[in-house]
Formats: sequence, C-alpha cells, structure tokens
Amino acid sequence: MFETRVIKVDPFNPSNEVIAEAAEVLRRGGLVAFPTETVYGLGALAYLRESVLRIFRVKKRPLDNPLIVHISRLSALSLVTRDVPEEALIIAEKLWPGPVTLVLWKSDSIPSEVTAGLPKVAVRMPAHRVALMLIDSVDAPVAAPSANLSGRPSPTSADHVIKDLYGSIELIIDAGETLHGVESTIIDLTVKPPLLLRPGALSVEELERVLGVEIAIPPFARGLVEASKALAPGMKHRHYAPRADMVLVESRSYDDLTKIVSVVRDIALKSLHKGVSVSILCSDETYNYYTDLGVVVKSLGSRSNLFQIAKNLFKTMRELDEAGVSFIIAEGFEERGLGLTIMNRLRKASGYNIITADQ
Ligand code: TXA
Ligand code: MG
Repeated sequence: MFETRVIKVDPFNPSNEVIAEAAEVLRRGGLVAFPTETVYGLGALAYLRESVLRIFRVKKRPLDNPLIVHISRLSALSLVTRDVPEEALIIAEKLWPGPVTLVLWKSDSIPSEVTAGLPKVAVRMPAHRVALMLIDSVDAPVAAPSANLSGRPSPTSADHVIKDLYGSIELIIDAGETLHGVESTIIDLTVKPPLLLRPGALSVEELERVLGVEIAIPPFARGLVEASKALAPGMKHRHYAPRADMVLVESRSYDDLTKIVSVVRDIALKSLHKGVSVSILCSDETYNYYTDLGVVVKSLGSRSNLFQIAKNLFKTMRELDEAGVSFIIAEGFEERGLGLTIMNRLRKASGYNIITADQ
C-alpha cells in the first residue's frame, strides 16, 4: 500500500503542469488513471513491459485479457500496427478521436504483454482533452484497460477509481464524470466482413454507415453466450457485475411493457417473501409500477433516450452495491442502436441469468 495522489483538473482545459506531472509518472514506469470520453482508463506506457504487467496485478486481471493501446495522433497507428487497411483509415479519419477501437495486426514495437501474446492489437484514439494531452506529452502509446478491479462495473468517475484502486497506483486524474459511461465499441478489421467484438458507446449502425459495409455481429457480442478465447479474449470472463446477484427480464418486443412489469413484480414479491433485500433496475416508463413494493427502485432513464440509459448503467450498478442490496431484478431493452450495448452489459452482469417475459 502506498500513497495515491488524486488531482482534480478541468476536463476541457487541464493544467499543463498536471499533465506534465502525470506524463513523468508514466515515463518512470508508474500507473496513472485518467479520464476518457467512455470510462476512466488505467494507463502505463505500452513499451514498458513491467509497468504493463503491473496493470494486470493491480486490477487482478487475468493475463489472457489483452489491453487497448491508446494513441493521440493518426501517425501513431502505423507504429503500433503492421498494416493499416482502408477500413481502418476511413474510421480513423471520420470517427477518431472517438469511442471506437480497432483490432489490427500488431507491429513488433508492441510488447506481447500488452496483447496477451496475441498477434493482433486493439487501438483507439480517445476523445478527451486530458487523455489526448497526456498521450501527446509522453509521446508514446499508452496501454490502458478500464480503471476498475477486474469484473467490477467500469469506472465512470474518479470516485469509482478511488474505490477500486486507491493505494495501489501512483496517480488518479479526476476530471469528473465521463461522457458516455460505457466502453468503446471494438471491431476486428483483420477479418472480412469486419467483426464486432464488443458493442460500445458508438452504435454498430453508425459504424456501418461510415464504413458502407455490414458488420458481423456474433452471438457473444450480444452477450448471449460467452466468447471463445480465440475470437474475443477477455470477453469470456464474468464482467461488469455488481456484487449483488442479478436476473434480467427480457422480452421479444418492448412496445407493450405490461408483461415485463408483471414478471418483474412477481419475482420481486417472491424474493421479498424469502427475506431477500431486493432492488429493481427499470426505466422511467415503468418506475411508477414498482414504487408500492417497498424495495429499492432505480430508473436508468427513458427508453426513448438509450444514450442516457447506457450512461447511467455502470454508475447505477455501483450505487446499488453501495446501498447493500443483494438481489437486482433488471428490465431488458430493445436491441437496437445503443440497446445492443446495454443488453450486452446487462446479460453479462447477470451472469446470463435471463428470464423471458413472453409466455
Ligand atoms: O472505452 C474503452 O475501450 C476503455 C477506455 C479506457 O479506453 N477501455 C476498456 O478496456 O474498456 P478494457 O481492457 O476494459 O477492455 C478491452 C477489451 C478486452 O477485454 C479485450 O476483450 C479487447 O478489448 N481486446 C484488447 N486487445 C485485443 C486484441 N488484441 N484482440 C481482441 N480483443 C482485444
Ligand atoms: Mg474493462
């Protein structure tokens, strides 16, 4: 245990001194938690093998789960990868900096520790002043997973990082809440058609529009089955999970929510009867149908605003943990746009404990 420094900065205009200090920590082999537009990352210089290995240790992350390499300018893409296909250039030019991560063949400059021994590397350019200035300042790619303990919901504020990692890393840069609150979308561009490895803050529909081709969506990207290690390393581990047990109530259609409400109420009443401390994770549209139950009810927002639902998801899971509930009953969402991302996270958080309301 050693002292972790927490420094507050203005997200849009961080002080040069703080950035210089953080860069110095990274150069000396230290670990820095920094904000991105998605979630907070835990960074080490990608070239420093020992520091990269320390990321795995402090997060308690399995060594077979590779890290994303963060860059701050397009020219770095050809340093970390072996070849840059046309599709990568299109995405980089139109969507970077932004919440999309590309998996490409790695160059020899990236140590095998970063990619968990894989021949491919995941790269992204984050759209956050602090992240971009920090990477620019160290003038090297920064390897960074989300700055949470492995398996916990990703951190959307510096407080979450403090909860999980205080005392085991050198520095936390606090720039307030992140914009998206959910991780980047990851696509593998070494295969044709491009393969979605993880839905994220940028919708697949938007990526397809920019690329002009269809993206393959395997069942594991929907969170329906666990990924095979070869295809999507790291995706097979239990993820994004609150401490409480969770059940997810899904439906074929979300036009009529009465069936969902009735199943959620039913489970809640049965669990209450057994003396379980229950909570319900719902939407603005259904909130009022649960308030008579005398359980903790949290709305993620309106179903007409999936951006808000995605943004609130991890934050709310952590709030429920803080409230000490032991069982969460969550409503499902339509799998369109960011709904795909939301359902991937909810299914994984539930440990695939899914009930369908269409009987
Ligand atoms: O938004 C984000 O992506 C955040 C911020 C900090 O950038 N980062 C993030 O990293 O979510 P992490 O480590 O929590 O998730 C990275 C995932 C891994 O679980 C792994 O599945 C995938 O990216 N990944 C990384 N390298 C890969 C590779 N070479 N091949 C396939 N998948 C890879
Ligand atoms: Mg993570």
